Amino acid sequence: RIAGPCSLVIFGVTGDLARKKLMPAVYDLANRGLLPPSFALVGFARRDWDDEDFGKVVHDAVQAHARTPFREDVWERLSEGFRFVQGSFDDDAAFDRLRDTLATLDAERGTDGNHAFYLSVPPKAFPVVCEQLRRSGLATAQGDQWRRVVIEKPFGHDLESARELNQVVNSVFPEQSVFRIDHYLGKETVQNILALRFANQLFDPVWSSHYVDHVQITMAEDIGLGGRAGYYDGIGAARDVIQNHLLQLLALVAMEEPVSFEPRELQAEKIKVLSATKNILPLTEHTARGQYGAGWQGSEQVVGLKEEEGFDTDSNTETYAAIALEVDSRRWAGVPFYLRTGKRLGRRVTEIALVFKRAPHLPFDKTMTEELSQNALVIRVQPDEGITLRFGSKVPGSSMEVRDVNMDFSYGQAFTESSPEAYERLILDVLLGEPSLFPVNAEVELSWEILDPVLDAWAENGSPDTYEAGTWGPDSADTMMERAGRQWRRP
Ligand code: BG6
Repeated sequence: RIAGPCSLVIFGVTGDLARKKLMPAVYDLANRGLLPPSFALVGFARRDWDDEDFGKVVHDAVQAHARTPFREDVWERLSEGFRFVQGSFDDDAAFDRLRDTLATLDAERGTDGNHAFYLSVPPKAFPVVCEQLRRSGLATAQGDQWRRVVIEKPFGHDLESARELNQVVNSVFPEQSVFRIDHYLGKETVQNILALRFANQLFDPVWSSHYVDHVQITMAEDIGLGGRAGYYDGIGAARDVIQNHLLQLLALVAMEEPVSFEPRELQAEKIKVLSATKNILPLTEHTARGQYGAGWQGSEQVVGLKEEEGFDTDSNTETYAAIALEVDSRRWAGVPFYLRTGKRLGRRVTEIALVFKRAPHLPFDKTMTEELSQNALVIRVQPDEGITLRFGSKVPGSSMEVRDVNMDFSYGQAFTESSPEAYERLILDVLLGEPSLFPVNAEVELSWEILDPVLDAWAENGSPDTYEAGTWGPDSADTMMERAGRQWRRP
């Protein structure tokens, strides 16, 4: 579907996200023919730029990060709709100029009074921007025009602040106009969880505590935090990605079949499963956290977090977090869900592994199955997108030796179609007013309810353990699994 006439206003347009993700996504959408000819992109920031400077910045961002090839004709048409409004968030006159700019675009370019406001700014700026949009009249649509607001995580830093933030946003924009970005939901492989589970008959019978021993959800990154101290220090790995991306993955894996893929139905199932999700106690034994020290990442020698620019030498911010949860439902009773994430780990990989129980009986000579692990179904979210099924197979030869083998499905081999970048899909959905891929406030609050006790326990109990960069996290994370008689996968 092609978006209708509209403009997209980005606040925080000089930031990293705008340059690396949002601007390239807008271009890619235009290039794929998914934006209307009347589309306009408006940047708002303090920087002393004019429309032309802004155009140059978008141009460079597109050249550096767009997925689709650069086409002069597409660029020409798109860039005619670029405007820049200079000002700070507390400057009434700047928002009045924004209103006038949008009105001119409505009249001259035909954006028809439909505006999406993308708040690519720290949450502490949400209240003032929302208030300015209200004051200047920009938050209210006339007739069948629409106004939407897009907010980026972190949605607060705990339940209480999330509630306050939400109140502020909802006092200006009704809930159905609020689009909360969790870019993991825009990923092809994440959406495929629903296809895998609900378009097939093969997996459902084993998708429960009858067959599943435990689930491991891993989001490992090899990058460090150089240059991101401003955002990350004091936030840490659990708030940065477990509260949103990983709990959303858990919800998709553990939820029941929705009545339909209508947004309301999908949200209802996710809310149900998040409501049933509980920490495994005691928290000190079933969680782990760490902070990377110096080490080697491949052939590159890297510094520890405390040596990164912008971090204090006494920073307690965790760069690794692991938690164990259970879902109190008939389907999942007794099945732990282990969630872990970290920076500067062995490699960049996100995967969801359902690890199955062992066969109740093995009619083989014990020595013949020594190397056999538990069966596993692994959803490879990235970078090597696909699905792996691990099972035992006879080793060719005269003896009945059994060893693990993998059966692989890979997107790259199975499809010729390329998948859009997550932000591309999500921006298009905002412009279309299609809310399925955006968590609603209830999901955000439930996720904080799960995480808050963990964060409190950590705050009361010393500081994170250290792990060497390039390894798979702190020893305490391994101990946490060993206590349960399990071990982390090494993807
Ligand atoms: C963001 C986090 O949400 O996701 C970052 O704030 C993280 O810390 C990023 O690096 C990872 O996204 P992706 O799509 O590269 O897995």
